[in-house]
Amino acid sequence: ERNQQSFPEGFLWGGATAANQIEGGFREGNKGLNISDVLPGGKERLKILMSPGFNFEIDHEKYRYPNHEAIDFYHRYKEDIALFAEMGFKVFRMSIAWTRIFPNGDELEPNEAGLAFYDRVFDELHKYGIEPVVTISHYEMPLHLVKEYGGWRSRQVVTFFERYATALFNRYKDKVKYWMTFNEINGALKMPIMSMGFSPQNEEVRYQQTFQAFHHQFVASAIAVKACKQIIPDAKIGCMILFAPVYSYDSNPENVLFALKEEELFNYFCADVHVRGEYPAFIQRFFKEHSVELEIQDGDLELIKQGTVDYIGLSYYMSRTDKKVKAEEEKANGNIVGGVKNPFLKASDWGWEIDPVGLRISLNRLYGRYQVPLFVVENGLGAYDQVEEDGTINDNHRIDYLREHIKAMGEAIEDGVELMGYTSWGCIDLVSMSTGQMSKRYGFIYVDKHDDGSGTLERKPKKSYHWYKNVIATNGEQL
Ligand code: BG6
Repeated sequence: ERNQQSFPEGFLWGGATAANQIEGGFREGNKGLNISDVLPGGKERLKILMSPGFNFEIDHEKYRYPNHEAIDFYHRYKEDIALFAEMGFKVFRMSIAWTRIFPNGDELEPNEAGLAFYDRVFDELHKYGIEPVVTISHYEMPLHLVKEYGGWRSRQVVTFFERYATALFNRYKDKVKYWMTFNEINGALKMPIMSMGFSPQNEEVRYQQTFQAFHHQFVASAIAVKACKQIIPDAKIGCMILFAPVYSYDSNPENVLFALKEEELFNYFCADVHVRGEYPAFIQRFFKEHSVELEIQDGDLELIKQGTVDYIGLSYYMSRTDKKVKAEEEKANGNIVGGVKNPFLKASDWGWEIDPVGLRISLNRLYGRYQVPLFVVENGLGAYDQVEEDGTINDNHRIDYLREHIKAMGEAIEDGVELMGYTSWGCIDLVSMSTGQMSKRYGFIYVDKHDDGSGTLERKPKKSYHWYKNVIATNGEQL
């Protein structure tokens, strides 16, 4: 299909991953354990992690751990990067495992074997002219910081993060020009465990603890932004927001107001602080109503003001339709957010509502509010794939999904939005964050690995691989 909209020259086409969902090698190169290493396989994995008595230990008798081997990128990165290069990737979004660099999180000196691993990966990418886009923290906090410090509730973690981020900037200053601090930072509002390393024990402390942890992350992010600009003056460093535009269920003003308030709190609160360098006005009322009293140290607010980001990275999978009072049967699914079912949308096999127009709406809303460049760093369809007898994988459902979302980006660009690039999620099949499944596949590249852990790990391009290669080659003109 021909696309009317033309993407700007230099548009950053590529794919996205996270260390714990692809690397494996979970004990290699002196790597320490992180929170995803104690995540069992199965749909209950996050519930298990958040249950009150959970001890954050590995228990092989009870559980399987898909992230321990994942897709073995740790040993196969050369083959994988060659496949990305063949597709024409301009960028590759990946994250660094904090525990490869600081195995416990609180050491004073970084671990050389971990640093050397990412040197090899970056060198391999550069061999093909692919620029890495690096998330500093993507759902893999060191387990030691979870157990001994209570995660991001502790102010000390700011210092550990500063050490970690600075070590990365110093080491990779010539190799990495695109950075992001915290993956889906706002997701913690619904589920703090993966990014903040704790689960509030009861509802009364939920907001106090979560917002205090946010404050620590904002300070840490601002410190990282400042350090990045100083150490790598030509780098761009962004935040990363989980964006699901909130639609009011109907024109009942009560529902419209509810949707507006949800959108402010969930979609804009973190971005406001990251981009404008200030806590937004609306949050004061929320703090008062939920008895949140932040501990803010001298200098914190100045730091936050100075450490504003260059761009907004966002993940977009779905919109969210919501109303003030919901009935149980109306609920819609998502891995982090969910409202009520939208009668105008179809859903994926996992119940995630598919809404390409919502991406155009998101980009317009974000650009309208902030006027900073946007970067879609996650978007994609988790689906079952069928390997045919002749070995081909005809993932037309994925092509349809991506085509419509790319069109929507083209429309947003026509609307005047400044868009830097697009890295679709899970460009190679990987372990699902929310379910630990391999069968929830996102990739252009099939990986022969299954939910029970079996498989040869062989890589195979799907039909979408060839399709995306052409999309990149024509800079989005042929879809
Ligand atoms: C995002 C995360 O929330 O969604 C990724 O940043 C995750 O880590 C992706 O994998 C897709 O979600 P899931 O649960 O299907 O893996």
